[in-house]
Amino acid sequence: MGTRRVLITGCSSGIGLAVAARLAKDELRRFKVVATMRDLNKRGPLERAAGDSLNKTLEIKELDACSEESIRECVNSLPDRRVDILVNNAGVGMIGPLECQSISDMKELFDTNFFGLARLVKELLPDMKRRQSGHIVVMSSVMGIQGLLFNDVYSASKFAVEGFCESLAVQAMKFNIKMTLVEPGPVVTEFERKVYEDADKMDLSGADEETVKIFREVYIPYSKKIFASLGQTPEEVAEASETLQVITAKEPPLRHQTNRLYMPLTALKHADPTGRLPLDTFYKMTFNHDRLFNASLGVLRLLQRKSKKL
Ligand SMILES: NC(=O)c1ccc[n+]([C@@H]2O[C@H](COP(=O)([O-])OP(=O)(O)OC[C@H]3O[C@@H](n4cnc5c(N)ncnc54)[C@H](OP(=O)(O)O)[C@@H]3O)[C@@H](O)[C@H]2O)c1
Repeated sequence: MGTRRVLITGCSSGIGLAVAARLAKDELRRFKVVATMRDLNKRGPLERAAGDSLNKTLEIKELDACSEESIRECVNSLPDRRVDILVNNAGVGMIGPLECQSISDMKELFDTNFFGLARLVKELLPDMKRRQSGHIVVMSSVMGIQGLLFNDVYSASKFAVEGFCESLAVQAMKFNIKMTLVEPGPVVTEFERKVYEDADKMDLSGADEETVKIFREVYIPYSKKIFASLGQTPEEVAEASETLQVITAKEPPLRHQTNRLYMPLTALKHADPTGRLPLDTFYKMTFNHDRLFNASLGVLRLLQRKSKKL
């Protein structure tokens, strides 16, 4: 197989940046990376991470996932418009009580997380069909499998992404196009910082006292502990066992969870079709078992450290 062109969205930071740099530095030089971002003024960190690969195996281009025109302009600028692998990574988060979130903010989030994907696939799919080859890799989330308290809208956007890809995958298969949903658990990136910052500034006057208390005093501290205990680095998500493995696999999976420590939580969903088991477990974890929650995180943290040492 010759060099494959990979177009990645949202490369100004986090997972997109790490995947772009990792693929560009591939020892076997299997990829030409088109690392895109909506604001080229933010290219500094990617340029530094790319090092010697900059303008050799990695080029940086502008692409706003919320604009069809920007997507088309970027794709038209590529030789033969050829994209062998799309890594649809651009995404935004949102946490908080639903009563305090505006419909226009929700629409904005869907415009990036779901319609951004739809726009990119619409632009690239016809070419991939004609060539009878291609791979669409989508940065979903474990929250595309299992919803989470105070992540109602974000989780809904990732469920939309999952339904979209699962439906399209069958048709894509007929044209020899592969589809993969990468499903990270918590990853320590700008994403985490931004959602906590937004949550701090959030006007919570629209919610009742008890809900505000649960959000501030239960959810936020638990969420921070989960990130500290189970959080992966973006480099881990990009590394050999994760995104790179998916991209180079001969038969890529439709779904790939990157965080083994989070898997027991997503497995609950498949263990009970009535949905009671995950519901009861998340309820108990949140409201009843503070000590159990902290103890389990302690054990997981230990396992995490041990597995990193191996
Ligand atoms: N961090 C986690 O815990 C986690 C877990 C599971 C899944 N994910 C998913 O992983 C993906 C990457 O997130 P991350 O953690 O790496 O967060 P991040 O560091 O905040 O990166 C998000 C990237 O998306 C870009 N972006 C946002 N809106 C865009 C638009 N309209 N057009 C183009 N780019 C846009 C951002 O650009 P700007 O710098 O211009 O804003 C940034 O480059 C997201 O889809 C997220 O949902 C993250």
